[in-house]
Amino acid sequence: MSPDILSAASSIPSSCLHTIFRAAQEAEQRTDTEVVKLHVGDPYFHPADNVADAFVDAVRRGDTKYTGPDGLPELREAAVEKLRTDNGVESTVDRLLVSPGSCEGLAALLQTLAEPGAEILLPELHWPVHLQQSLLAGFRPVLYPLGTGFRPEIERIAAAASPRTKVLLINSPANPTGVVLDPDEIASLLDLARARGWHVISDEAYEHFCYERAHMSVASLERDVPVDERIVHSVFSFSKSFAMTGYRLGYIALANDRAADVMRVVQEANIIGTSTPVQYAGIAALASRYEAAATNHKLVQRNRDVALPPLIKAGLLSELPAGGWYAMLDVTRTGLDAETFALRLLDRKGIAVVAGNGFAMRPQLDDQGHIRAHDYAPWARHLIRIAFCVDPIALETGVRKILEFVDECGDEGLASAG
Ligand SMILES: Cc1ncc(COP(=O)(O)O)c(C=O)c1O
Repeated sequence: MSPDILSAASSIPSSCLHTIFRAAQEAEQRTDTEVVKLHVGDPYFHPADNVADAFVDAVRRGDTKYTGPDGLPELREAAVEKLRTDNGVESTVDRLLVSPGSCEGLAALLQTLAEPGAEILLPELHWPVHLQQSLLAGFRPVLYPLGTGFRPEIERIAAAASPRTKVLLINSPANPTGVVLDPDEIASLLDLARARGWHVISDEAYEHFCYERAHMSVASLERDVPVDERIVHSVFSFSKSFAMTGYRLGYIALANDRAADVMRVVQEANIIGTSTPVQYAGIAALASRYEAAATNHKLVQRNRDVALPPLIKAGLLSELPAGGWYAMLDVTRTGLDAETFALRLLDRKGIAVVAGNGFAMRPQLDDQGHIRAHDYAPWARHLIRIAFCVDPIALETGVRKILEFVDECGDEGLASAG
């Protein structure tokens, strides 16, 4: 007989992202037809040639040894320079750690900051990985309600906090909502965190995808604060800006030396180090960043501007997302809940989208931090997330078929009512 698994991990359900990922794969195998994949944030464009060349050259010259838990000094220097010039963030190589994807960097950062019983504040509509990682690190996630247009409101965050709150997570541009915080909102969040003695984690994976205004890094507001008093830990990714999703590369700029020292130990234990040839590819990506980021931004914005307006016209989307790669549709008028909508759309039209209720999971924890029960915020029951970073033809087909499907649901609804 095998022993029971009673870890915190064993109580965490698989996310809505994985559910549809598996369903789409099964549908492709079953029907032998390609599914239009609007469920995953993987771009249709590729990294610049110099990125692939740098990777291959590193492999060929034998630069394939361990590089240590914090990463190649040349890459960290390049990232520090990029943060100073482009983000207005003051960092140093000692406070900057490279990670295999920003996802792993986030997980390690959460492990760096966690302590038993400590709470982390997440928005009630969040990227499920933020919730899963918080639980795995040992945090107790507290989900604060959002205001109009899924924007954070200081009073609601302050009201959700408790003396056990330790971290506030900010994700602008946001996955899944596409909300981009304006400078006043960021400043008020930071003031609140500072006044309450919290750390701030700023996940800036979509920094190059702001369509209405320039991106603002939260840590840029701490440039003139003495290092020991800084509280913002910033997370950056190569995946989105430079289309390097499968390379797995990110970096974390820690607020202060103490946090960087702790995270170095966490990474020593978690990863030993990040893939060395991938880090050389990262140096190349940063060297050609202006051109690549501008081109990729343009491609995704064009997708947004061309493909999404029909969804607004049909009343499924209230406005174009101000940032990121995703749009949240409201399919209330079909009468279907999000999960049924997503599965039927896949089955009948071969289009994969994510059921939005999965971004609004509400776990109930026991004293050990294990999930004992969970449900989904009822207001998210009819939300669907689509990614608009995909091939324009696929996106246009996907949107057209979503609209067709919504109309058919309306007809079916009327028929059954009649
Ligand atoms: C909000 C957010 N943060 C971080 C990531 C992780 O990116 P990566 O691990 O590829 O750097 C993603 C990926 O989709 C994301 O949506």
